[in-house]
Amino acid sequence: MRITTTTAGKLGKTPLLVLCVAEGSKPSVPAGVKLPPGFTKDFDGKARSTSSTFATSGPAERVLLIGTGTELCDEGLRRVAAIAAQQAESLGAAKAVLVAPKGSKSLPGDRIGRALAEGAAMGAYRFDSQKSEPTKPKCSGVAIATDDAATKRGVKDGVSLAEANAFTRDLQNLPGNKMTPRDFAKYARQLAAGNSRITCKVMDEKQMAAMGMGLLLGVSQGSTEPARLLHLTYKPKGKAKGRVALVGKGLTFDAGGYSLKPPAKMDEMRYDMSGGAAVLGCFKALRDLDVPVEVHGIVGCSENLIDGNATKPGDVHTGMAGKTVEVLNTDAEGRLVLADCLTYTCRKVKPDTILDLATLTGAVIVALGHEVSGIFPSNDTLRDALIAAGERTGEACWPLPLLDVHKDAMKGKHADLQNIGSPAVGAGSSQGAAFLSHFVEGDVDWCHLDIAGTAWNTTNRDWVGGAAGSGVGARLLFEYLANR
Ligand code: BES
Ligand code: MN
Ligand code: ZN
Repeated sequence: MRITTTTAGKLGKTPLLVLCVAEGSKPSVPAGVKLPPGFTKDFDGKARSTSSTFATSGPAERVLLIGTGTELCDEGLRRVAAIAAQQAESLGAAKAVLVAPKGSKSLPGDRIGRALAEGAAMGAYRFDSQKSEPTKPKCSGVAIATDDAATKRGVKDGVSLAEANAFTRDLQNLPGNKMTPRDFAKYARQLAAGNSRITCKVMDEKQMAAMGMGLLLGVSQGSTEPARLLHLTYKPKGKAKGRVALVGKGLTFDAGGYSLKPPAKMDEMRYDMSGGAAVLGCFKALRDLDVPVEVHGIVGCSENLIDGNATKPGDVHTGMAGKTVEVLNTDAEGRLVLADCLTYTCRKVKPDTILDLATLTGAVIVALGHEVSGIFPSNDTLRDALIAAGERTGEACWPLPLLDVHKDAMKGKHADLQNIGSPAVGAGSSQGAAFLSHFVEGDVDWCHLDIAGTAWNTTNRDWVGGAAGSGVGARLLFEYLANR
């Protein structure tokens, strides 16, 4: 779906004209567009309500009204634009023009343009590369009609951010046999290709062994697919205002290992690389859009399978930090992979802030469902920044506790640490975060984001939702970086 801008003043010919109507107000129909008598009369403008008709004359063949409710907001406009794109498709309109509402103090034009572009593009996302005969979309583009420069700029940003979201979704949705750690590395390299500000370093198992990454390699040793450690770097044009590391869990498939998962829904564990996909998605946005920060993306990629060489419950591995870990449950593998990624980040990258994203625990779904990511910020500034970024992007975040009792629960009996808590019942997400905290070194701001609930199977919000990857994290991370 191509998203462009067009002038609002003089409307060109279009198969479908989409007008936003606020609740309790009458649609403002552009000059020259003639509608059947009475068509606009009963339309109440309730959020997400729609009504369409053929125009009797003028530049538009059809007109679609979409209600925006009582108050315009980013999420509301994303939904309206997504509905517009989907209706254009179902009406069989080859193209549509969507007239952007006017900006205001509380919702300026740049945000309107961004939300509309994001909503239309993300709402039109589909994943059909695995079908032998994918159906071609009927609607090829939405033009956003505006004469406001800020709205036009917003559309441009929104297009890039929607592409970042789609890129993340594509990585998520590809099946495990087509998104192995080596495939992941290939996509990371492509992000750096032809871009002077992004570089990509891919490390293999030999290089990881040389750094002492026994925890990550302990997860990978039951698989014939070799693990990879990805390290992307973005350097801004001018002098960087700080250095942020984005660390992602990249389990391209998590069968659980010897602590085997039940067969129902095990296929969904192809999404266990969603944290890493979000990190790559943020770099996709950084190809187009500038932030004044040096950004590092570190992704630990591995499978978690069973074979004669796999880690057994009770095995002890030593990570890059020198700490020993008793692997009491091989299904708590994400934290092992992330532990070595965090040590690498603290020692080799030395950022001022680390954000790690992982589909770490099923428990976070119990706590927060599929709409809200659980965050464990090390200070209130970081907490507020992430909550704000979540509100703006429609990728909500909410803090969960990480207390000393949780950290203590991860101390080992026979080794320094153990990878599941004792007592093992309750506070599973906090215990996962607490395990990670043992590998965050020095004076660094750190937040772990548990996206196990929000990465797929989210409820329908028009631009996202359903039984596939959501692309969560890519836009959220960019928003955080842009506003820091
Ligand atoms: N990738 C899973 C977490 C997960 C489970 C995400 C279900 C989404 C849906 C992770 O590796 C895992 O298996 N975690 C265990 C931890 C437990 C063994 C302490 C879990 O959540 O059950
Ligand atoms: Mn697991
Ligand atoms: Zn996992």
